[in-house]
Amino acid sequence: MSFIVGIDGPAGSGKGTVTKKVANELGLINIDTGATYRCVALEAINRNVNIDDKEKLIKIAKEIKIDINPTTEGDIIYLNGKDVTKEIRSKEVTKIVSPISSIKEVRYEMVNLQRKLAKGKNVIMEGRDICTYVFPNADVKIYLDASLEERAKRRYMENKEKNIDMTYEEVLENIAKRDENDKAKEMGALKIAEDSVIVDTTNLNIDEVVEKIINIIKEKNCNLNEK
Ligand code: DC
Repeated sequence: MSFIVGIDGPAGSGKGTVTKKVANELGLINIDTGATYRCVALEAINRNVNIDDKEKLIKIAKEIKIDINPTTEGDIIYLNGKDVTKEIRSKEVTKIVSPISSIKEVRYEMVNLQRKLAKGKNVIMEGRDICTYVFPNADVKIYLDASLEERAKRRYMENKEKNIDMTYEEVLENIAKRDENDKAKEMGALKIAEDSVIVDTTNLNIDEVVEKIINIIKEKNCNLNEK
């Protein structure tokens, strides 16, 4: 039996930071599904594959080996045995990941992997289609949101800390484009599940969002003990 908390939301809504904290508080395994699509994008760059070459991208999704080691500091991501945790956040990967994640066959591979990673475990899984497609019967469903400007501001600050060189304008433009692309996908589009609880984080700090989410999980009568 596994216990699944699904968290969906657009880029910069705070999913990554918040799920890591909630996972640590409640002893859940944190799975960042965006990282799986980022691995496909990184491998495409490594193999010099053009983003219009659908067949080669599908081949990559089938061939690569992705491992996720969830730690209290966040997920460590391995691509074909190599730690790529930092590399998959690069500007180059971020620019091409959304169109790659729109390819249906790439999604089949990644969704299979995501379901396998959660099997038999108590997890908090973040992404775009977790509550609508990957785990439509998740025990708890949450949709995190925030204004575009606030999300761009957060991602810009985060990038600065990680020494990722992008201007605020570049980040804003990238997020707006990804929003548009992520919402328009034929499969796995970013949308709010009917039974998701919407949490608008625009005017909340991280601890406030974490508290809200823990309360939502507890309200669902889940027998999880806070650490
Ligand atoms: O959460 P992120 O920014 O690391 O996600 C990277 C890209 O992957 C994003 O543009 C949308 C896509 N993605 C997806 O299509 N489905 C998911 N479950 C998670 C991410």
